[in-house]
Amino acid sequence: MEIALREWTLQDKAQLIGLCNNADRSFLSDRMPFPYTEKDAEWWLNMVREHDGKDGVFRAVVSDGKIVGNISAEQKADVYRRDAEIGYLLDRGEWSKGIMTQAVKLLCETAFERLDILRITGLVYETNAASRRVLEKNVFELEGVMRSAVTKGGRTYDLCVYGKLK
Ligand SMILES: CC(C)(COP(=O)(O)OP(=O)(O)OC[C@H]1O[C@@H](n2cnc3c(N)ncnc32)[C@H](O)[C@@H]1OP(=O)(O)O)[C@@H](O)C(=O)NCCC(=O)NCCS
Repeated sequence: MEIALREWTLQDKAQLIGLCNNADRSFLSDRMPFPYTEKDAEWWLNMVREHDGKDGVFRAVVSDGKIVGNISAEQKADVYRRDAEIGYLLDRGEWSKGIMTQAVKLLCETAFERLDILRITGLVYETNAASRRVLEKNVFELEGVMRSAVTKGGRTYDLCVYGKLK
């Protein structure tokens, strides 16, 4: 299995729509629309084209030539500008094969190289064991826990703050 990251292009619209409509959203923010429409994909791909390499890196996760996930690091603004927040999701059929662990490694390398940042932050719901493990395997440190910080679908979660320095 060969894992690579590649830049998104407008030709990836159909794959992006499929990925987002089939994603497990239990631990994702509600900012990703559902259902995820053609218009949503066009908006996002254009946003990526504008920001990639300037204040974010946005990549498709490719396994054996097929897009199976999405990963990004978005640089913050104002006094937080030398920090970027990482986010990712993977097609459910591809879980637990080590794909996102490898993708996070590659994305961190690219983000530290391309962006003027000193750290990458990962914010993970306390019960999202797989995502926490992915960050820990990439030497992100658990820096603290924000208690009762997230409410989603009628449930409230603690939020783990992970950080990796350049
Ligand atoms: C989180 C996610 C990206 C993980 O991707 P993945 O490619 O399956 O992750 P990996 O296979 O690289 O590593 C997962 C690790 O978590 C472990 N794991 C998986 N489920 C687990 C569970 N329920 N409890 C404890 N550990 C678990 C795996 O065993 C593996 O650790 P190991 O290598 O030490 O055995 C994927 O589950 C996903 O897309 N989830 C939905 C979206 C999401 O939650 N995104 C993150 C928001 S912060």
